Amino acid sequence: MNISIENLNKTYLRRGKNFNAFQTIDLKINAGEFIAIVGPSGSGKTTFLHLLAGLLTQSSGAIKYDGLDFANIPKAEKAAFINDNIGFISQGMSLIPSLCVVDNLRLPLYLSKREHQAGVEINQALALLAQLGIEDLADEYPINLSGGEQRRVAIARAVMNHPKIIIADEPTNDLDDVSKAKVLELFKQKNQAGATVIMVTHHQENLAYVNQVYTMN
Ligand SMILES: Nc1ncnc2c1ncn2[C@@H]1O[C@H](COP(=O)(O)OP(=O)(O)OP(=O)(O)O)[C@@H](O)[C@H]1O
Ligand SMILES: [Mg+2]
Repeated sequence: MNISIENLNKTYLRRGKNFNAFQTIDLKINAGEFIAIVGPSGSGKTTFLHLLAGLLTQSSGAIKYDGLDFANIPKAEKAAFINDNIGFISQGMSLIPSLCVVDNLRLPLYLSKREHQAGVEINQALALLAQLGIEDLADEYPINLSGGEQRRVAIARAVMNHPKIIIADEPTNDLDDVSKAKVLELFKQKNQAGATVIMVTHHQENLAYVNQVYTMN
């Protein structure tokens, strides 16, 4: 999927005044790219990713997926479009507390209209957890996990649905060097299989994996 970002602006209301989260963004991201977005804290990176993932609405401008304007997708279809095409890893913690790890991973599949085969899904989930070094945690609940473990579960969940686009907000925060490398290798593998990867990061070593770096000021 090609992404076209045109004249994009997001204004927040802060103490009664308009506050621009970032300056106008004009950008084309081609299918199969692996890009990093860097920049100081508060420069609007998370806001931009939330707009890309449909979690926020822009104040002006457009985001088009293969020419389809995100703003024109009917509300009832938007959630399905996002669930089927975008794997989102948020900067904060986002696991469902009442579901164990393996069920957190299965959730996006249940929300899609595809056919379900519990055995296949569980094996897929376990394989992803193993790839990230947390296969022993499949039956645990999020409250019993460390920050870095929760982050890896969220990363595994984001790729369960084979998304065409992976959007990751500081995915290697809270992780040791070995786990960081596992996460980046997973992204690399998905990118080589055709997924577009858009990653915000403050970690310089992650930039070795990407083909383009954009800076927000
Ligand atoms: N809901 C909100 N209402 C008002 N201002 C907001 C809101 N969310 C974010 N902001 C402001 O918008 C700016 C951009 O925030 P954003 O979270 O996008 O930054 P960031 O680049 O992701 O920072 P970090 O590297 O710290 O995660 C910041 O100045 C922030 O204070
Ligand atoms: Mg942020």
